[in-house]
Amino acid sequence: MIIGVPAPDPRRRLRRVPLPRLLDAALDRLVVPGYSRLGYLARAAGWSALPPDALAGRTVAVTGASGGLGEATAAGLVALGAEVELVVRDRGRGEAARARLLEARPGARVTVACCDLADLDDVRRYAADARDRLLALHGLVHNAGVLPAERTETAAGHELCLATHVLGPFLLTRELLPLLRAGSPPDRPGSPARVVFVSSGGMYTASLRTDDPEFREGRYSGGAAYARTKRMQVVLAELLADDLAAAGVAVHSMHPGWADTPGVAGSLPGFHRFTGPLLRTVEQGADTAVWLQAAREPGRCSGVFWHDRVPRPTHYLPRGEEPPEERAALWALCVDATAA
Ligand SMILES: NC(=O)c1ccc[n+]([C@@H]2O[C@H](COP(=O)([O-])OP(=O)(O)OC[C@H]3O[C@@H](n4cnc5c(N)ncnc54)[C@H](OP(=O)(O)O)[C@@H]3O)[C@@H](O)[C@H]2O)c1
Repeated sequence: MIIGVPAPDPRRRLRRVPLPRLLDAALDRLVVPGYSRLGYLARAAGWSALPPDALAGRTVAVTGASGGLGEATAAGLVALGAEVELVVRDRGRGEAARARLLEARPGARVTVACCDLADLDDVRRYAADARDRLLALHGLVHNAGVLPAERTETAAGHELCLATHVLGPFLLTRELLPLLRAGSPPDRPGSPARVVFVSSGGMYTASLRTDDPEFREGRYSGGAAYARTKRMQVVLAELLADDLAAAGVAVHSMHPGWADTPGVAGSLPGFHRFTGPLLRTVEQGADTAVWLQAAREPGRCSGVFWHDRVPRPTHYLPRGEEPPEERAALWALCVDATAA
């Protein structure tokens, strides 16, 4: 021991200092510091750990859980005691993710189920299978995402981003409603089942385009289609929050910031190279999606857009809010496109 330097007191705990609200908002508006790992580290210093059994007895399905943020979300949920269903489109990749999760946490309860979110018939098939197998679902994370290089249509004729980010999740939520309702017992009002849309900060660059939802007009750009449908997810979460309030189900959307995933490396190689060490780890990117399933606060509200555990504005420009008729048009689009 160095003379004159007192030995550390093991009972003394590090004080958690929440980031002042104004500083937090400034990080958010400046984008790069807020979305990168710097924003995460600054904010996380003030967070309290969730109880290790926060999700014990709860079953949560995560779509696109074969890698990237979906697998990290599953890992975070499992660490809090949840039983997790990995909803994947490729069984081999899903089983590989399950093996990694079990290696990290032997004894974890993890199932793999196949579903192509962009294929509405397959969504119906998966949901029917889930209703047969499961008693209740306490959480559903709509994480599956794509950023196509060129305009692609599904077999049913829907643009791929629209089908994967909007139509598939809308249909899946409705088809799983009996299970979500069973996961929201009326005698536990503070503990509803929670549906979470993993949107993107990229949605701030897009307005709600119900005039051309399939991106048939103008020059197609995968980035623009991605941003438009990520905007739709945020509005859809608000609409579903109203629709499912009577069923006691909470619906939220969030954005993960910028995380280093196979999707970012493959679809945005220039961005991936440029942002390199600033990118969040997958665990950091998945944190809010996990927290939304486990924390008390998001169980007491619905229809909120979150980033780093804080509600965020859905528009930064004045008068950005979508008029009611456009919101109604999005709802009608989803209902019509997913009608059996
Ligand atoms: N990483 C970021 O910085 C970032 C930022 C903002 C938002 N996000 C959002 O976060 C989510 C996850 O992104 P990520 O970066 O982890 O991407 P990723 O590495 O590309 O992972 C995407 C996952 O979605 C799955 N998927 C794609 N289409 C599917 C479909 N039709 N049916 C079922 N699964 C499908 C993929 O499955 P396969 O293994 O079969 O390909 C993969 O597991 C996405 O919604 C994305 O928009 C990410």
